[in-house]
Amino acid sequence: MTTDAYTPAYRQSIEQPDAFWSEAAKAIEWITPPTTILDSSNAPLHRWFTGASLNTCFNALDRHVRDGRGEQPALIHDSPVTGTTETITYAGLLARVATFAGALASLGVEKGDRVVIYMPMVPEAVVAMLACARLGAIHSVVFGGFAPAELAARIEDAQPKVVVAASCGIEPSRVVEYKPMLDAALDRSTHKPESVVVFQREQAVAAVGERDTEWEEMTWDELVADAEPVDCVEVAATDPLYILYTSGTTGRPKGIVRDNGGHAVALRWSMGNIYGIDPGDVWFTASDVGWVVGHSYIVYAPLLTGATTVLYEGKPVGTPDAGAFWRVIAEHRVKAMFTAPTAYRAIKREDPRGELVAQHDISSLETVFLAGERLDPDTYEWATSVLGVPVVDNWWQTETGWPIAANPRGLQPLPIKAGSPSVPMPGYAVSILDETGAPLPAGEEGAIAIRLPLPPGTLPTLWGDDERYVDGYLSTYPGHYATGDGGLVDEDGYLFVMGRTDDVLNVAGHRLSTGSIEAALAGHPDVAECAVIGVADELKGQLPRGLVVLKGGVDTSEAATQRICAELVQRVRDEVGAVAALRQVDVVAALPKTRSGKILRKTMREIADGRVPTVPGTIEDASVLETLKPVLRPDA
Ligand code: COA
Ligand code: AMP
Repeated sequence: MTTDAYTPAYRQSIEQPDAFWSEAAKAIEWITPPTTILDSSNAPLHRWFTGASLNTCFNALDRHVRDGRGEQPALIHDSPVTGTTETITYAGLLARVATFAGALASLGVEKGDRVVIYMPMVPEAVVAMLACARLGAIHSVVFGGFAPAELAARIEDAQPKVVVAASCGIEPSRVVEYKPMLDAALDRSTHKPESVVVFQREQAVAAVGERDTEWEEMTWDELVADAEPVDCVEVAATDPLYILYTSGTTGRPKGIVRDNGGHAVALRWSMGNIYGIDPGDVWFTASDVGWVVGHSYIVYAPLLTGATTVLYEGKPVGTPDAGAFWRVIAEHRVKAMFTAPTAYRAIKREDPRGELVAQHDISSLETVFLAGERLDPDTYEWATSVLGVPVVDNWWQTETGWPIAANPRGLQPLPIKAGSPSVPMPGYAVSILDETGAPLPAGEEGAIAIRLPLPPGTLPTLWGDDERYVDGYLSTYPGHYATGDGGLVDEDGYLFVMGRTDDVLNVAGHRLSTGSIEAALAGHPDVAECAVIGVADELKGQLPRGLVVLKGGVDTSEAATQRICAELVQRVRDEVGAVAALRQVDVVAALPKTRSGKILRKTMREIADGRVPTVPGTIEDASVLETLKPVLRPDA
């Protein structure tokens, strides 16, 4: 490995974090510049830039307009599902955001208030996020593929003053009406907002204000018609910018908090140094604003940089074909793109020889970045050969907000090793630990942990629950943050991430909780108990499978169990959302458990994936595993 720029930068970030991050902070415009960099006064909860103040929206929009980028495209909405493309300049986006911020202010939204945003990939979603940032309000975007139970859990926890929703999202196969799902979620939630704002789309116009509700409902256009633009509100660097809920193992989602100051500094640094994107470049992230990749690399990082971001409302395949990404790259002269490996696997399946690439001029493309799940060497090799550009893996999580490990293309391109996201990024002191918390030597697999403090931009805590943060992340290995992933570091310092060591699912790069799918299954009147496991899938990385034990006395004829299984699949679609992609539920006689009653999901997963199962000595009845083998792996 060459050591020109990466090694000294990384070393300084670990040994002299104040020096490293105070230099990085100069790329951000502050109202009160930072004098304190790392604040460990409340360890293990560390804060960055305590005492400094800024506004994130100002850094994403106003400063670029002031500095002459007003006519540069800030956002290109490319929507094959509606057949439209709209380019919005920095000046245009600023005008829309300032006005919508005024509209939210007219509903009483102030600094610190929460606003839930439930919208698909339309510019108004970005406008709503930045309008919150402008006011110092805290947005919480909920992925449009989530159904009422998931949405309700987030509303319950975030307690928003206002909910902003779209009337519908558009999937290639159907129009997904959001308003009935929002209504159902608000009916379930004990917390009610003061106002609901609905952005009407012509594909499904929603009924707004027709029900008798405790809250006021209005359309986006009605609200904005009388609104006056407002200026940015000063916030502390440590004030929350957003809450993004993510799945743990239980059904209760975790509210990841992102602060304003550390986030702006880290994302701006990452854009130039990791992704090699400079002001004026065109950048395309194919994800969704409801996920962390969308927050960081569709919205905030490119705009903080003064780049142009492509907001793509479509799929990698089927809108209209497997050349969709190449068309976007050619049409908008994209310099680098970012998506999940699944998207490339879907393209590879439809166009294995990459013949559609030749139909588009992708000469502007310099790099492809992939993250969200493990980048398998086959997909890496395929993408590299059909595109002829470096394909760069990067590993991170909702909690961290930006890469823990990557190949820093802007700082210093390092050799790429298939199967590895390369090396730790500044501020991340990555360690591989055994079960006792002792560090393991190079080449040995263990739990991936990060020595505290985590760098700027990572979660300072969970929303309203410091204790859950400490218990869930900081207690397993004292002095460290437990990532939940397992892996190893090789002799060259390259990290290899093998996957989650807990029961969190990763389906097509979407993080889902076994707990919430199990809660949906358990709600069926015929189900006594159930378990959900993630099994390996060629396209989506993992797919969930449900195993249920029926209550005594329930009809177990083939016809009856088929009907129950179909109802269970539908329940998960209705409660969690179609994105859970649960298609297979099997009725079984019993589930394997430890003597204390813990269901052995990992053991079942290993059987389903054809691996040697780890059977704990505390198993209650080992014969249950034998009866499950033909169900979990019928072809073996
Ligand atoms: N709103 C409503 N429904 C949604 C949705 C949304 N935003 N996103 C997905 N869904 C639905 C889909 O329509 C599908 O429904 P169906 O079962 O009726 O067909 C279901 O959820 C599963 O969706 P998806 O995971 O997208 O699977 P798919 O088979 O339709 O497509 C891929 C497969 C690989 C093309 C797709 O998963 C993809 O583009 N992945 C990219 C990964 C990604 O962006 N990850 C984000 C983190 S980086
Ligand atoms: P999310 O919080 O949705 O971004 O999901 C984070 C999880 O996705 C991580 O804990 C990993 O299990 C997985 N993940 C993300 N990126 C990668 C990657 N590049 N390689 C392997 N796993 C990844």
